[in-house]
Amino acid sequence: MKYFFLFFLTGVFVLSAFFSLKAEGNIRVTILYDNTAFAEGTKPDWGFSCLIEGTEKTILFDTGTRSTILLDNIKILKADMSRVDQVVISHNHGDHTGGLSAFLEINHDVTVFLPFSFHDSYAGRIKEMKAQSKPVSEPVEICSDVYSTGELGESVKEQSLVLDTSRGIVVITGCSHPGIVDILKKAKEILNKNIYLVFGGFHLMNKSDAEMKAIIDDFKKLGVEKVGATHCTGPKQIDMFRKEWGENFVEMGVGRVITFDK
Ligand SMILES: [Fe+2]
Ligand SMILES: [Fe+2]
Repeated sequence: MKYFFLFFLTGVFVLSAFFSLKAEGNIRVTILYDNTAFAEGTKPDWGFSCLIEGTEKTILFDTGTRSTILLDNIKILKADMSRVDQVVISHNHGDHTGGLSAFLEINHDVTVFLPFSFHDSYAGRIKEMKAQSKPVSEPVEICSDVYSTGELGESVKEQSLVLDTSRGIVVITGCSHPGIVDILKKAKEILNKNIYLVFGGFHLMNKSDAEMKAIIDDFKKLGVEKVGATHCTGPKQIDMFRKEWGENFVEMGVGRVITFDK
């Protein structure tokens, strides 16, 4: 009886360890293109792209500037592009759209979500490459627990991604031309939850120290737990986030892998 009880307890322990392992870090984001390199052997260049796995659909967010660099980083990082189902293009700037054709040559069995303001000819070129495209104007759930903020901003229109996770909202931005604080407010409007993590380009390179203090204050008021400022945020401005968030600052760069629970 005593041995049976011990055997039973061991079984419960092994099973619970298995399920907690399965549940932990089951969304995985790999940075494929960024202004800096994180993993050895990867190539840094001005631009942004990341691969999101573990969500209902595998998503490529933005495609960097130069297709050769994107493809080299994909190869070095052994990122499996054949599994991508959806591509989200944040906005119509070359440092986010540059690698799209090269990607579609590898895998055209995808739906490309474009901000509504993209010219029709862009969707036409995607169709010529045998892929589907969908224009996005309002906030929309593109697959289970993954939302687009919809097209935001005035001069440069842009969409960002919002993930609904057990730790809270995860926001992924391209350049944040509509304003990073407004994007975060929109994300909260869509999901009404705490913001666990935001990463990507924040486009703050011309902001003064006083303006940065106000933005950091807004981040805190919004309760942003972790920050991965990169790409076009500006080196000095990235450093201000790094100092302010300490161990909750997430270092970015090509090859960085971020994992979090669903
Ligand atoms: Fe950019
Ligand atoms: Fe941009």
